[in-house]
Amino acid sequence: MITCSAPGKIYLFGEHAVVYGQSAICCAIDIRTRVQAERCDSIVIESVLGRTGIDYDIHPYVSKAIEKMQDHADIEGVKIRIDSNLPVGSGLGSSAAVTVAAIQALNHLFNCNLQLEEIATIGHGIEKEVQGNASPTDTYVSTMGGVVMIPQRRKLQALECTIVIGNTGRFSSTRELVASVARLKIEFPDIIDPILTNIGTMSLIAEEYVSRKEYATLGKLMNVNHGLLDAIGVGSAELSALVYAARSNGALAAKITGAGGGGCMVALSDEPEAQRIAKAISDSGAEVIITRNTHEGVRLETQK
Ligand code: MEV
Repeated sequence: MITCSAPGKIYLFGEHAVVYGQSAICCAIDIRTRVQAERCDSIVIESVLGRTGIDYDIHPYVSKAIEKMQDHADIEGVKIRIDSNLPVGSGLGSSAAVTVAAIQALNHLFNCNLQLEEIATIGHGIEKEVQGNASPTDTYVSTMGGVVMIPQRRKLQALECTIVIGNTGRFSSTRELVASVARLKIEFPDIIDPILTNIGTMSLIAEEYVSRKEYATLGKLMNVNHGLLDAIGVGSAELSALVYAARSNGALAAKITGAGGGGCMVALSDEPEAQRIAKAISDSGAEVIITRNTHEGVRLETQK
């Protein structure tokens, strides 16, 4: 039996804009999804959502992962068990983490010898098929860990500050939110295109502040990015309330992370302020997670 795990992520910059080829900076976080895989007579997928075979409604990402891995191995039967500490549909990259962890578990179980770049590429293909349109960001950072600039696929300096996440608990459909930005872009190209370009430019400028660990300056740009996400229609009153609660309690930065709509916001903070920010977010009605950047992407946990 093989167990692999992969991390979730937060965006420092660039969600939505990255779908149109703009640059984004994404950071793997120390919260993981585990996938166990063992040989079996038939195909079985188990999670909190239930026990299925190949099922594109209940377990779309793992079903697709098994389907794609048929190109690399003769998979007649496999039992997959998913356990995740990442809330689903919250913008923390739960779908990328389960996809990448499943591919790596199958890779080990069936001795396919796939390298990390190939795993990220297969994962991206699966996200595109399930979501309609997807950038390589979530699957790449979940595979590689660390802080990465996409589309350049460049690893940046690790982020050495505390990450405080506020989860509205409201399910956010990446597919629908990506489609809503696409509609706005078609309706008002002269307005929306420059906003997306500015978000990409922000990522390029911010790289230097990540390298120099100048988190207060980085934070100013992240706050601007929040405003631009609001402008393209992926904000909500709830997310903004959490963002302002975090900022007025000492956050260096606070913005939406991921697709938006519902889901999560993220704040960066120096360690001493983290608890105060967490309490402010919690008092505003959200679930709080305090975490850090992890350099580890997908990994083999156990092999029996
Ligand atoms: C979702 O985590 C991030 C989006 O930019 C979509 C994508 O990059 O595929 C909204």
